[in-house]
Amino acid sequence: MSGNHLVHSEKRIAQLKNIFADEAARSAMDQNTLVYSVQAILPVEQGTEAGLFFGTTSIEPGTVNEEYFITQGHFHKVSNRAEYYWGIKGEGALILMDRDRNCRAESMRPGSLHYIPAHTAHRIANTENTQLVFSACWPSDAGYDYDEILNHGFSYRLLKRNGKPELVKI
Ligand SMILES: [Fe+2]
Repeated sequence: MSGNHLVHSEKRIAQLKNIFADEAARSAMDQNTLVYSVQAILPVEQGTEAGLFFGTTSIEPGTVNEEYFITQGHFHKVSNRAEYYWGIKGEGALILMDRDRNCRAESMRPGSLHYIPAHTAHRIANTENTQLVFSACWPSDAGYDYDEILNHGFSYRLLKRNGKPELVKI
């Protein structure tokens, strides 16, 4: 992507403390390992009502112990805001959790479209040995509530069991 209002960010293993189920395994890894990078176009200020943001995320292949590489995951700060994700390259899963901590996963592949309802936390896991790339479009006033996930996590984890993804209650 190129143009005005473009921002780029990266998440390495060092920046994902307490995000994976096995924190001891994460802390023992090479802390410089890239997990995912995001390019986003933010044409208006964060918090502006009635605007839209667009982003593309690339998640590297890998696991922390048996848990696939994942994005941090969040509810929206303005909790009633929804979002679209869609798969571009590679395969993985969108993990969704409502406010009652009910979890479900949708498989993501090139061309798959995912509507993330309001009041629903969301994160992506890369379940293959290649990079997973997806895009997102969300309201510019949605914001991020990362603390809820940092403090309480998701109720289910997507783990690599016998070489295949399995949604497991933790
Ligand atoms: Fe979001």
